[in-house]
Amino acid sequence: MPENFRVILQNRPGVQGEPKETNFHHEVCPFPNSPEPGQVLVKTLYLSVDPALRCRMNESTGVEYMGPWALGEMILGLGGVGEVYQSNHEGYTPGDLVQGAFSWPWTNYFIWEKTSGMDLDKVDRSLVGDRPSLILSVLGLTGLTSLLGIREKGQLTPGANETVVISGAAGACGSLAGQIAKLEGAGKVIGICGSDEKCDYLTGDLVFDSAINYKTQNVAEKLKTTCPDGIQVYFDNVGGDISETVISQMTPNSRVILCGQISVYNNDVPYPPPISASLEAIIAERKISRDRFLVLNYAAKFKSGLEQLITWLADGKIKVRETVAEGLEKAGSAFVSMMKGGNIGKQIVHVADPTKNTQ
Ligand SMILES: NC(=O)c1ccc[n+]([C@@H]2O[C@H](COP(=O)([O-])OP(=O)(O)OC[C@H]3O[C@@H](n4cnc5c(N)ncnc54)[C@H](OP(=O)(O)O)[C@@H]3O)[C@@H](O)[C@H]2O)c1
Repeated sequence: MPENFRVILQNRPGVQGEPKETNFHHEVCPFPNSPEPGQVLVKTLYLSVDPALRCRMNESTGVEYMGPWALGEMILGLGGVGEVYQSNHEGYTPGDLVQGAFSWPWTNYFIWEKTSGMDLDKVDRSLVGDRPSLILSVLGLTGLTSLLGIREKGQLTPGANETVVISGAAGACGSLAGQIAKLEGAGKVIGICGSDEKCDYLTGDLVFDSAINYKTQNVAEKLKTTCPDGIQVYFDNVGGDISETVISQMTPNSRVILCGQISVYNNDVPYPPPISASLEAIIAERKISRDRFLVLNYAAKFKSGLEQLITWLADGKIKVRETVAEGLEKAGSAFVSMMKGGNIGKQIVHVADPTKNTQ
């Protein structure tokens, strides 16, 4: 019987604290019993690592759609990909590739049943080939966030030569959002991110026209030179000073896609966090739209959105990069690293390879 491990929340970083590796603990746990009727024994292959998990480390998450993790209990992450290891459910066969888009336990093997509250959807292998982790990036919630954010809140007009600025641009959502903005007709796409290596990736490997390292460059000055006619769409992944700087250079009737505010996730502030009175005045005077965007509110558009992403990926119009941590024991450190900018593209954890000859 294979060994089984899980990751638990050992202690909390505090609402004002940076998450640390020691907040997590990797420990041995029992291998599940054989599945009973209606149950499936699932083997984890990949885990998704997401900024939204930070709020679950607090005693209260501050958002209505996610609860906090309990101390000493197994981490329930946002998404994962696995394989059916044993099945006692007529809808699943050993070897099936499966995903949970909204929740996945941080463990090697677990029992799933319909009443567990977690969806277990079969994945069409022909879509992902030998890269099942694509389900956690472009062909999953990350890709949908980028696409639906651009479409629903960005409202680009093809041919209008609009300028799009993206913060957190070399991350999972940001790197896709920039490519999608171009595909949706943006004139120019500028990325803001935290290293020269990331800037080179955006302009060298991807289609960004220009990139700004917010840690070493003057963002306001660089935006003035790269966007002399102002900014029409801002895909905001980070909030804080960067966003105040970008929004202050936006034109009348421009649009902010309020996707995330990671720069304040380690602070005790509500979501979305308050902005300065002067920025409020700019937004009102220029009639800049800045509604909160939550991908989960667009479930009716997931199917058509995924079809679009599948087509672009198959046509080679979208590039996908991953930062991969090896082993379940690295899940906590991968999360800590991602929160500090250690990733380019989607941060994932590779837990195991598919099994041959299950059951
Ligand atoms: N609205 C929705 O439905 C939805 C869905 C998914 C994700 N999101 C949000 O989208 C954003 C991106 O998520 P993701 O999964 O794609 O993560 P990600 O961008 O791949 O990773 C997080 C990145 O945030 C940057 N960052 C960390 N601290 C920062 C700070 N103080 N200032 C500026 N940048 C900072 C880091 O890059 P640098 O090196 O550039 O600092 C890091 O790589 C997050 O805010 C997340 O909460 C929203």
